[in-house]
Amino acid sequence: MFYEPGKTAHNLPHDPFKACVAPRPIGWVSTVDLDGRPNLAPYSFFNAVHGKPPMVMFSSGGSVDSLKNARATGEFVVGVAPKAMLKEINFSSAPLPPDEDEFDYAGLEKLPAKCVKPHLIKGVPIHMECKVFQIVDLPSDNPERPCAMVIGTVIGLHIDDAIIRDGMVDITLFEPLARLGYQEYASVSETFTVRREDFWK
Ligand SMILES: Cc1cc2nc3c(=O)[nH]c(=O)nc-3n(C[C@H](O)[C@H](O)[C@H](O)COP(=O)(O)O)c2cc1C
Repeated sequence: MFYEPGKTAHNLPHDPFKACVAPRPIGWVSTVDLDGRPNLAPYSFFNAVHGKPPMVMFSSGGSVDSLKNARATGEFVVGVAPKAMLKEINFSSAPLPPDEDEFDYAGLEKLPAKCVKPHLIKGVPIHMECKVFQIVDLPSDNPERPCAMVIGTVIGLHIDDAIIRDGMVDITLFEPLARLGYQEYASVSETFTVRREDFWK
């Protein structure tokens, strides 16, 4: 099949695009507003975009508070959540008003970050404390719900010692949750090693 998004129909019951870029890691984005009120929401438009310095992005397709807070304060924290916290992740995606705390709603405990104001999430083994590097506005069909990609520089990285084995982060020890297309999820419980040099001999 072939279609031109926004121009011709895909003729499938659901938009297939997100299933074509899968799995996508889920960034659990913690922000505060200018009054210090916390906000937490999962984003599967999330990824690393640079290594030196380490940089990540999340993209808001009309979700409001994380983007508004990151824009206003220039800070956010991203947690990488284990499969075991799927329930809390989904609770925290509820569209609560800014004065309601998604941490409380999801039954999560906040921990202080070291370099920024947004909180860490107790039980999450990896957190990245970020300063906003750039916000790239993206097309939106609703001016009241602007869409944008927030790119942040990681200025502090927390890694639970329990997921470090032989000096390396072993993601099978916490099985980070990933989003597929539609309502499907995946997690990594098995990995294999490939040394590029072995192919070149
Ligand atoms: C697993 C998962 C992934 C999500 N990924 C995104 C995303 O990439 N972009 C987005 O705009 N909303 C995404 N959402 C929906 C937001 O989490 C939800 O709209 C949330 O209320 C936004 O909160 P905020 O307005 O406080 O930022 C996702 C929801 C779930 C459960």
